[in-house]
Amino acid sequence: MKVSTTIAEVRSQVKEWKRQGLSVGLVPTMGYLHEGHQSLIARAARENDRVVVSVFVNPIQFGPSEDLESYPRDFERDCTLCEKTGADLVFHPEASEMYAENFCTYVDMDRLTKGLCGASRPVHFRGVCTVVSKLFHIVTPDRAYFGQKDAQQLAVIKRMVRDLSMDVEIVGCPIIREPDGLAKSSRNTYLSPQERRAAVVLSQALAEGRKALAEGERSAQAITGIIRGVLESEPLAQPEYVELVDWETLEPVETADRPVLAAIAVRIGTTRLIDNFVFEEGPECN
Ligand code: PAJ
Repeated sequence: MKVSTTIAEVRSQVKEWKRQGLSVGLVPTMGYLHEGHQSLIARAARENDRVVVSVFVNPIQFGPSEDLESYPRDFERDCTLCEKTGADLVFHPEASEMYAENFCTYVDMDRLTKGLCGASRPVHFRGVCTVVSKLFHIVTPDRAYFGQKDAQQLAVIKRMVRDLSMDVEIVGCPIIREPDGLAKSSRNTYLSPQERRAAVVLSQALAEGRKALAEGERSAQAITGIIRGVLESEPLAQPEYVELVDWETLEPVETADRPVLAAIAVRIGTTRLIDNFVFEEGPECN
């Protein structure tokens, strides 16, 4: 497995692969990899001849009061996991390689980025769309892999690719969880043991919401009420939002009469955690 820190090196490697007729999968990450990331890499390795994993803590998707400085990093360990899981190339640029001095061109999306996490993180999706566009231009992957864990991000990237006619297939991958149901996240490392125990309430609350939907409840107010009720039973949990939205447009729905995303953001202490599920009639997809 190769590690590259420059755009030029990645470009020449990918050109060589393409010359040989090989397909390329891309897994964008911010590192501190866990089984969630690994499931994306493993799937990319199954579905493509070559796999590029980017490990880059993207400064422009963090707000001024967010955790850019403290975001966990362990590049050596990330490389070991990438190699073990089937990556061929790890792209690990410095911020200065991605953002030259006086950088001022962004990919900015309306509507889908305004609600849910976008409401409290106003610059976040502009940063995500910009870095992911750059990675698509650098790597020119046939397929790119994103987790359902960040459901809004997945919907936003799909929309960006459609709206800007980007030639890449976006593959959404299921949420990988801890045995007690907590969605795996690099930010789980911020939790104290007591907070870690409390954090199980996110998946428990969503499970109750999903159960109500499965039993035929269709009122968004009733379903979000059920989810809120469970969250409020945990004193350490402070819900930021609990929403039921259209899975394609991310617009709030009153009635779950189409594929819907139930999404929550909850503060446990100072750590902000997100979780979600998608519900549609018929076989479950998440
Ligand atoms: P990061 O949080 O490192 O996540 C990288 C990818 O792993 C994302 O697509 C995310 O949805 C997926 N992922 C994280 N936890 C997961 C889990 N428990 N199960 C399944 N997939 C999971 O998301 C980002 O980085 C950044 O915003 C990025 C897209 C790299 C742009 O900077």
